[in-house]
Amino acid sequence: MQLNNNTVLITGGTSGIGYALAKSLLERNNTVIICGRREEMLEEIRRRHPGIHTVVCDVSSEDDRQELVSWVTGKFSELNVLVNNAGIQRDVNFNLGMEDLESGPSEIGTNIEAPVYLTARLMPHLKSRKNAAIINISSVLAFTPMARVPVYCATKAFIHNFTLSLRFQMRQAGVSVYEVLPPRVRTELNAEGRKKAGYADSGVDVEEYVESVMKGLEADVPEIEYPGALSVVSASREDLDRMFDSINDQTFVW
Ligand SMILES: NC(=O)c1ccc[n+]([C@@H]2O[C@H](COP(=O)([O-])OP(=O)(O)OC[C@H]3O[C@@H](n4cnc5c(N)ncnc54)[C@H](OP(=O)(O)O)[C@@H]3O)[C@@H](O)[C@H]2O)c1
Repeated sequence: MQLNNNTVLITGGTSGIGYALAKSLLERNNTVIICGRREEMLEEIRRRHPGIHTVVCDVSSEDDRQELVSWVTGKFSELNVLVNNAGIQRDVNFNLGMEDLESGPSEIGTNIEAPVYLTARLMPHLKSRKNAAIINISSVLAFTPMARVPVYCATKAFIHNFTLSLRFQMRQAGVSVYEVLPPRVRTELNAEGRKKAGYADSGVDVEEYVESVMKGLEADVPEIEYPGALSVVSASREDLDRMFDSINDQTFVW
């Protein structure tokens, strides 16, 4: 994928991978638009990087998604890249019935419905642009779950599976479809849960991670993994079972 002169919409650009991607794309001479729920963070980012365009949007809301699509296509008719990045991760213990599911926002709404509906809503526009691309952020946990965050992992498995079909459907439409599979990266994702589990500060540095993603995009790698990490996309069932055992604490009391 060509990494300059694009007009890119990144969902969830107020922190972490989305924010680092926005800065990196801006440096490479792209027009960058980010969205997020936290208006104060968007303002702060505009102050720090006047070149980044921002819009408040809760991508889990269908009304917000419709507004976002009409605003962004009206104001940025050159828009040719959608990065489905916004995501949340929550500890959910099914031993407690509905308790954890009802205590916060829906991972299904943010991690599944948002990318599916934004992709469909923006597709007619993207198909009309040259060098159009969709970049979906999944996770290595799509292939082997961390049981503490079961819904999250399943949403990422959905994104992997969905991306395969989307790429197949788009192969004659001039829309390139990429999947990015981050390992553990140091961001704000599920900060509380990570702290409780004792690995709040572990993982790859986010700026370093995003530079590796840029290299993958530039080299047109359809499924971008982190170099040096175990390849989950080509792992054997035995490898995945070993990974499952290593990331799930057998002594945890549910
Ligand atoms: N960090 C990791 O270890 C890791 C590993 C694998 C995959 N990933 C994936 O990478 C992506 C980015 O996560 P991150 O690690 O960078 O976490 P992060 O720092 O928490 O960033 C998440 C971003 O998503 C936005 N967001 C969340 N819910 C939203 C909603 N309903 N509407 C609009 N924006 C929303 C947040 O903005 P607001 O709060 O302002 O709305 C924030 O900008 C996610 O899809 C995540 O699943 C991360």
